Amino acid sequence: MKVLVSDSLAEEGVKRLSSGADVDVITNLSPEELIEKIKDYDALVIRSGTKVTADVIKAADRLKVIGRAGVGIDNVDVEAATKRGIIVLNTPGGNTISAAEHTIAMMLALARNIPQANAALHKGEWNRKKYTGVEFFNKTLGIVGLGRVGAEVATRMKSFGMQILAYDPFVTEDRAREMGITMGDLETVLRGGDFITVHTPLTNETRNLIDEEEFKIMKPGVRIVNCARGGIINEAALAKAVAEGTVAGAAVDVFTKEPPTGNPMLEQERIIVTPHLGASTAEAQINVALAVADQILAIARGGLPTNAINMPAISPETLAVMDPFMKLAEKMGALLGQLVGTGFESLELVYSGTLAEKDTRPVTISAIVGLLGCVMGSGSVNFVNAQRTLKEMGIKLLESKTESANGYSNSITMKLTKGGNTTTLQGTVSGKEKRIVQLNEYHTYIPSEGDMVLAIIEDRPNIIGPCCVVLGEGKINIGGMHVGRIAEGLPQLMVLSVDHLANDDIMKKLCAVPGVTSAKMVEL
Ligand code: NAD
Ligand code: MLT
Repeated sequence: MKVLVSDSLAEEGVKRLSSGADVDVITNLSPEELIEKIKDYDALVIRSGTKVTADVIKAADRLKVIGRAGVGIDNVDVEAATKRGIIVLNTPGGNTISAAEHTIAMMLALARNIPQANAALHKGEWNRKKYTGVEFFNKTLGIVGLGRVGAEVATRMKSFGMQILAYDPFVTEDRAREMGITMGDLETVLRGGDFITVHTPLTNETRNLIDEEEFKIMKPGVRIVNCARGGIINEAALAKAVAEGTVAGAAVDVFTKEPPTGNPMLEQERIIVTPHLGASTAEAQINVALAVADQILAIARGGLPTNAINMPAISPETLAVMDPFMKLAEKMGALLGQLVGTGFESLELVYSGTLAEKDTRPVTISAIVGLLGCVMGSGSVNFVNAQRTLKEMGIKLLESKTESANGYSNSITMKLTKGGNTTTLQGTVSGKEKRIVQLNEYHTYIPSEGDMVLAIIEDRPNIIGPCCVVLGEGKINIGGMHVGRIAEGLPQLMVLSVDHLANDDIMKKLCAVPGVTSAKMVEL
């Protein structure tokens, strides 16, 4: 794997990556230079500096993964990456404590005017009155976004004797109660906070979440902190509110444009600023660099990352248990694709027996990868874009679970419908063995790997022999055979495992054997 590291990454992470990949560290690339370079790499490692736009992704012919050493992925066009099947991963948690501590440092600096007093004294000005501050004790801290960083800030600020009032539509009352936090809607938090700090991601929903109107409902003299993302609080509106004195001061670590130029906040002495230092500690940088390196190396070894943004979050434990079912499902999907071809309208999956109790999401995705890979070309569909591609094709996906597995301890049933006809497969895993045990009404034995001929033949003597002769004359060795009938006199399904693919000529001869209704070569 060739890895491009395009933002500065802790040495420990570069070293770890280099233990299993070919790594180039090239920082400060212009957008044009990145577009030119990216085509040679399988993985890109970034922090917040590199903008991975749709144009970069378009040029990234062999890119498989974008690793963000940090949390925010607002500098990555995740939509474009997903479409191309590129994994986008991040390293949540690695810099949470640093970001929370920086938020608190900013709050303290803001409450006690530390940066301004420090600058004044360095200039020889001794002014104790001008820099009188306020206490945290018995004040209310309004937190918008009670995720990892927000929760760590809350825990620590309680020890200062602050009441915590938080807004986060995704946090339950129970969880908040456990943390000793009162939840409210956004308006309640904005009205109630003496200090307000934001800790949401930057999304279309959170952009300008706090704007001119929101400042109007806040307590006069409120203090504002943004160590999350530039743009959650409208920068011009904040500068104006501070200039007018309705907001006593603000502390800002992040900007809509970094480095900020011509930003009205920089003109306000009572807005303290730092250059995106939230995660800039030795500890956090090592944490995120190692976490991104480990995930990229896992992908290089054929595994899955632990923190992919554009794939379902599936624990390594679940993946280990589901691995044989995923492999079987992918092969069953590929078999259905070869039998039915393009133009199908719906895919149905039924999980039965012990499998019904498990997290079957990765199995469903594997089935889609197998199915679409076979009709669209393998490599074009992967774990990242399988569900999305199926949806974009307008194919209906149905999933259900049942207790009974048709006599097996577990089973996957897949039904592919095209023009009103449904082709059904059932497969099962037993110990190390994965096999397909039913094709439509035929109980059969189809190995989950290898090349094979599937033929429908009449139920009478002297058909199987001539078929074997045709293959033998074509120098195709038969490694296994299974013949299954529905009932005496009805057509049979013959499965011949072969050592290599038969060409069209041989298949034509096979189809011409008297008593052969149809024959198809499949590759699993
Ligand atoms: P997180 O995903 O753990 O938490 C984000 C929280 O925001 C979640 O609980 C989510 O439910 C909530 N949220 C989402 N939309 C919301 C909305 N519309 N209103 C209210 N709440 C909403 O993320 P985190 O790790 O806690 O990081 C928080 C922010 O801090 C991110 O923007 C991240 O990029 C940023 N960050 C900055 C630095 C830095 O260097 N300054 C360091 C780390 C993290
Ligand atoms: C993050 O989102 O992790 C932070 O902004 C830190 C960083 O960009 O390095």
